[in-house]
Amino acid sequence: MQSYSRKAATTVLLIGCVVIAGWIFDIAILKSILPGLVSMKTNTAICFILSGTSLQLWHRALKNIPRLPHLRIAAVACASLVISIGLLTLIQYSFNLNFGIDELFFKDNTSAVGTAYPGRMAPNTALNFFLLGSALLLLNIPQYILAHSFTLVAFLIASLGLLGYIYGNSYFYKAGSAYTAMALHTAIAFILLCFGILFARPGRGLIAVVSSNNAGGIMARRLYPTAIAIPPIVGWLILSGYRSNVYTAEMAISLLGVLNVVVFAVLIWWNAKELGSIDGQRYRAEKALKEANEELENRVNERTAQLSQANEELQNEIADRKLAEEALRQSEEREKQKSQQLELALQKLQQTQTQLIQTEKMSSLGQLIAGVAHEINNPINFIYGNINYAHQYCQDLLALVHLYQQHYAHPVPEIQQKLQAIELDFLIEDLAKLLTSMKLGAERIREIVLTLRNFSRLHEAEKKLVNIHEGIDSTLLILQSRLKAKPDRPPIQVIKEYGELPLVECYAGLLNQVFMNLLTNAIDAIEQTDDSKSKAAADKPRIQNPQIRIRTEKINSTQIAISIADNGPGMTEEVRQKLFDPFFTTKPVGKGTGLGLSISYQIVVEKHGGQLNCISTPGKGAEFAIEIPIRQS
Ligand SMILES: Nc1ncnc2c1ncn2[C@@H]1O[C@H](COP(=O)(O)OP(=O)(O)OP(=O)(O)O)[C@@H](O)[C@H]1O
Ligand SMILES: [Mg+2]
Repeated sequence: MQSYSRKAATTVLLIGCVVIAGWIFDIAILKSILPGLVSMKTNTAICFILSGTSLQLWHRALKNIPRLPHLRIAAVACASLVISIGLLTLIQYSFNLNFGIDELFFKDNTSAVGTAYPGRMAPNTALNFFLLGSALLLLNIPQYILAHSFTLVAFLIASLGLLGYIYGNSYFYKAGSAYTAMALHTAIAFILLCFGILFARPGRGLIAVVSSNNAGGIMARRLYPTAIAIPPIVGWLILSGYRSNVYTAEMAISLLGVLNVVVFAVLIWWNAKELGSIDGQRYRAEKALKEANEELENRVNERTAQLSQANEELQNEIADRKLAEEALRQSEEREKQKSQQLELALQKLQQTQTQLIQTEKMSSLGQLIAGVAHEINNPINFIYGNINYAHQYCQDLLALVHLYQQHYAHPVPEIQQKLQAIELDFLIEDLAKLLTSMKLGAERIREIVLTLRNFSRLHEAEKKLVNIHEGIDSTLLILQSRLKAKPDRPPIQVIKEYGELPLVECYAGLLNQVFMNLLTNAIDAIEQTDDSKSKAAADKPRIQNPQIRIRTEKINSTQIAISIADNGPGMTEEVRQKLFDPFFTTKPVGKGTGLGLSISYQIVVEKHGGQLNCISTPGKGAEFAIEIPIRQS
C-alpha cells in the first residue's frame, strides 16, 4: 500500500509536469485532453507538482528520520505553498479580488472554455488544494484521523467532478456557471492524490481498518472497490436508458433502486459466504489445534508418569546403594578396629619380648654377681675374721724372738747365718705393715661384696624404702673397670653432686638397672668419640677430660630428680625423637640391642609413675633426667 502511495505521488507530479509542458509549448491536448473541455490551469499543475513532491519527500523523510531532517522541512514547505495557493485563489473568488497570481507564468486565452477568470483555477479545485495541502501538513502529526478526514472530503469533491464528466453534467465539475470548471485530468489527479495520502501510513488512522489482516480488513478490501465502482456504473447505465427514452424518470429511479438492492444483496451474500468459509476454516483449525493440544497434554502426562516412575526407581536404587555403602563402611570400620587391635597386640608382644630379654639379661647379670659375691663372702670372712689372730700371733712370736736375742746374745753360727739370710730386722718391720695392708685389703673386699649384693638385690622383688645414692654407687662400682684410663684415652672422671635425699620407695633392683643403662650409654658415647679406629672419630674432636656428672636433688616434698650427664658427642634431634623406641640403636651390630632406654623408660614411667627425659645438642653432650615420686601411691 505504501508503494502505491509513492507511485501515486509520482504520477500526480508527472501529470503536473506534462500539463506545464502543454502550456509551454501550447499543446491543447495536454492542457484539456479533449477539445471543448476546460483546461488545467498552470497554478493547478504547479500545485500538483508541489503536492506530489511533498508526498514523495514525506516518504523519504519517514525512512531516514534521524539523518535527513531537512527532507521533512522541504515536504512541509511544499504543502504550505499548496495551501497558500489554494487559499489565495479562494479569497480572490470570495472577495472578487485579483492578486495577479493566476497568470504569473503563462497568459490564458480570454475566451477559454469554462473559464470565468483567465488562468484562474476552479473554486472546487482551490478548495481541494487547501484540503489536501492541509492533509499533507497533518501527516506530520501522529493523529492521522484529521489528515484522513480532510482527504476524504477532497475525494468526494473530486469524485463529483469526475462523475459530472461521466454523466455529462457540467454542474458537478463547474460548481455554478459563474466560475471556472474543474478539468477532467484535474479530477483524476485529485483522486490519485487522495489515495496516495490515505495509503501513506496503512496501519494508522481511518485506513487502518481496511489494511488490517483480520476478517474486518479482508471484508473491507473486498467490498470497497465494488461499492465504489458499481453504483456509478449502474447509475450511468440507467441514465443512458432514460436518455434514450426507454423508460420514464420514475421508472429509472425504481430500476436504480432495485439494481442497487440486487447488486449489494449479491455482494453481501458472496462476502458472507466467503466469511463463512473462512470461519469454517478457522473453526477447523481451532479444532485441530485443540486436538493437537490435547494429544500433547496426554503425551506430556504419559511422559511425566514415566519420568516419575523412573525417578522413584532411581531413588529406590539410591537408597539401596546408600544402605550397601553404609554396610560396607561398617564392615570397613570393623576391619579397621580389628587391625588396630592386632597392631596393639603386636606392640604389647614386642614390649613383653623386650622386657623378657632385658629382664633375662639383668637377672643373669644379677645372679652372676650375687653368686660371685656369695662365693667370695665366705672365704673373705674367713680371712678377715682370722687376720686379727694372725696379727696377735705374729706379735707374740716376735716378742719371743726378742726375748731369745736378749738372753742368748751369741747364738750358734747356724742361727746367725739364718738371721742374716732372712734379714730379721726388715722382716719384723715389714710384717707389721704387711698385716695391716692385708687387713685393709680384706676390708675392701668385704665392702665390694656388700656393694655387689646391694646391686643385685635379687631378694627384693617388692617396693622398699631405698637409699638412691647407694644404688648409684654400687652401679658405679661394677662399671669401675670401664671408667679407668685406656691406652687411647684418659680416665673418665665421675663428678657426684649428691643432694639431701630421703629414702625413696621404689623397686631398687629395677632402678639400679636404669642407672646401669644410662651410665653404660654415657661411657659408650664418650668412647665412641675417642675410638680412633672408627671412621666417624676422625672428624670428631678428642675429649680432653671425659666426664660424667651425676646430680641428685629433692625437687619438692613429693618428688626427687636424678640427672646423669656426659660430655660426649650428644645426638641429633632425629635420634633424640626415636631414643625410647624399642630396638632403636646407632651402635654397630652386635654392640647394642637398642633396648636399654626403652626398658628404662618403662621402669621409670610405668613402674614408678615418674618421668624420663633427654636434653641434648650435637657436640654438647647429653643429659638424662629422671624424676620419681618419693612415695608410690
Ligand atoms: N648419652 C648418650 N649420648 C649420645 N647418644 C646416646 C646416649 N645415650 C643413648 N644414646 C643413643 O641412643 C641409642 C639407644 O640407646 P639404648 O640404650 O636404648 O640402646 P643401645 O645402647 O644402642 O643398646 P643397648 O640395648 O645395648 O643399650 C644409642 O644407640 C645411642 O645412639
Ligand atoms: Mg644402651
